[in-house]
Amino acid sequence: MSLVARLRLGVGIILCLLHTAPMAGPLPGEALFAVACEACHSLESEPDHRIGPPLGGLNGRKAAAVSGFAYSPALQNSDWRWTLPTLLAWLTDPDAAIPNNAMNYVNALSAEETQRLAEWLLAQQSD
Ligand code: HEC
Repeated sequence: MSLVARLRLGVGIILCLLHTAPMAGPLPGEALFAVACEACHSLESEPDHRIGPPLGGLNGRKAAAVSGFAYSPALQNSDWRWTLPTLLAWLTDPDAAIPNNAMNYVNALSAEETQRLAEWLLAQQSD
């Protein structure tokens, strides 16, 4: 199994566990990020060893703007800027939002969780 497939399987299993575990309340954005995104993304400003670009300071940033990260041509040519509406569209269905992008991610969160995660992420500066 490829690394990405294994990561996705792992994320899927964790999400299943979280959805079945009895919980005191809704998961905060930070926990949703840890479960659904952190395998591939950090909150740094510089690219690290991960599969996806760092996401610190995302709010208002042009898409594909972190120098040194090998973005897909699709994202580079997208002319997108990261705000709440664009981030929600991207996370809800990346392939519909920007066809041929390289983010191998299927959203397993509810619309409400996706919104909470997006709002939390846009409030984060880089570490
Ligand atoms: C399997 C790995 C993987 C997972 C899981 C993943 N991403 Fe990504 N993400 C990527 C890759 C790879 C790219 C670069 C896509 C491209 O170049 O087309 C990307 C790009 C992005 C971008 C664009 C960044 C920029 O600089 O323009 C955002 C925003 C983003 N991801 C958010 C998220 C969020 C939030 C989550 C969790 C809900 C998530 N991603 C889950 C791999 C992943």
